[in-house]
Amino acid sequence: MSHGPATPLTARAAGPLQGEAHVPGDKSISHRSLILGAMAVGETRVTGLLEGQDVLDTGRAMQAFGASVHKEGDTWVVHGVGVGGFLEPEDVIDCGNSGTGVRLLMGAAATHGFSVTYTGDASLRSRPMARVTDPLALFGAQAFGRSGGRLPMTLVGAADPVPVRYATPVPSAQVKSAVLLAGLNAPGETVVIEREATRDHSERMLRGFGAEVDVSETTEGRVITLVGQPELSPQVIVVPRDPSSAAFPVCAALIVPGSDVLVPNIGLNPTRAGLFETLRDMGADLTYENPREEGGEPVADLRARFSPDMKGIEVPPERAASMIDEYPVLSVVAAHAEGTTVMRGVKELRVKESDRIDAMAVGLRACGVTVRDGEDWWEVDGLGTGGLTGGATVAVHLDHRIAMSFLVAGMAARQGITVDDAGPIATSFPIFRDLMGQLGAVFDTPEA
Ligand code: S3P
Repeated sequence: MSHGPATPLTARAAGPLQGEAHVPGDKSISHRSLILGAMAVGETRVTGLLEGQDVLDTGRAMQAFGASVHKEGDTWVVHGVGVGGFLEPEDVIDCGNSGTGVRLLMGAAATHGFSVTYTGDASLRSRPMARVTDPLALFGAQAFGRSGGRLPMTLVGAADPVPVRYATPVPSAQVKSAVLLAGLNAPGETVVIEREATRDHSERMLRGFGAEVDVSETTEGRVITLVGQPELSPQVIVVPRDPSSAAFPVCAALIVPGSDVLVPNIGLNPTRAGLFETLRDMGADLTYENPREEGGEPVADLRARFSPDMKGIEVPPERAASMIDEYPVLSVVAAHAEGTTVMRGVKELRVKESDRIDAMAVGLRACGVTVRDGEDWWEVDGLGTGGLTGGATVAVHLDHRIAMSFLVAGMAARQGITVDDAGPIATSFPIFRDLMGQLGAVFDTPEA
């Protein structure tokens, strides 16, 4: 669902950030819990679900497809309709701001014999959908969208789907997951091959629901084979806390003098934890406390302390997929390091909720930072601790992570930083302002 009028917000430098930051549930795992719950037969119970707008929009979509989704106390309960059991929605499916939501839903519904029309907010309507509709066409689904393969778009599902073998041309967990979800209702084996490993929550969760999924590392890349038309059994799911949300209090603590913040219970699945490794490579005082396994995923409490001696580095490009959502906030840390941070192999950043290289480059330059960029790379010249002037109002382009990144930057900038719209933060981290405020961050609403 689209949000209301823009709500500008300013973050200012104040005292140190201190205390514990309990960030919300993982967005990727939350979407998948609702979708796979809706495709199982019976009652799936989910705790720790991210109640951000993106996930709520996916929950409403699942209801439109015939599943029941409701909340009992702290638990979300999904009554699924079984693989192949979706009903034709009566209305357009509005996925709001969520690329994950729309792309996974398109996949899940593509092998059902009915049509669905999808739309979203201005950001989502500008994002490329051919990356999912191309492989879905191989199952027999047909897409009719706006020019450039953009939403609104109607997907005519395949009544007699055939299984597919597909090598993803871009490193994208959304594309991989869309194909696997479509493969659920196709007979035989659906195979996805990815050259670079992307987040593997779909594979893990499909197995958890009882699907047969084989993953092998070959010279072609990671080959994922799914046996179609399983009966999925309902699950009890505890959603781990989101490393992509943890990134904001962690990075804020590293750049605000005197800070010491604990971020408990963060999933450190290697396909997601690239930012934390990169920060440690830069010399950040970031430790993993109490490392353990929960629900088959590595988990730890992250402790981040103010780190005045961080150095710019060349981020290994092969790490990009494991930290793709974290480059915006990494660029804020890079602006506080000594020397240049180089980020290559990151073309995907140009087609996220906004063109994230451009949005960060423009905003950082307005705050006094030198940034150079090309199609699939960018570099940030660090100013060292306390070097950021700030004082600017930056445009977030309906992008939650751009908004949070610049608010984090504002917490260490001499003149604060204003974002033109903090509304999009509600898509992934609705408690951001309260949580950061409890740590000691100071926000105010600029005069109109
Ligand atoms: C996601 C995959 C990533 C990521 C997004 C969530 C997912 O997108 O940016 O925030 O849950 O599968 P791509 O698959 O387009 O890289």
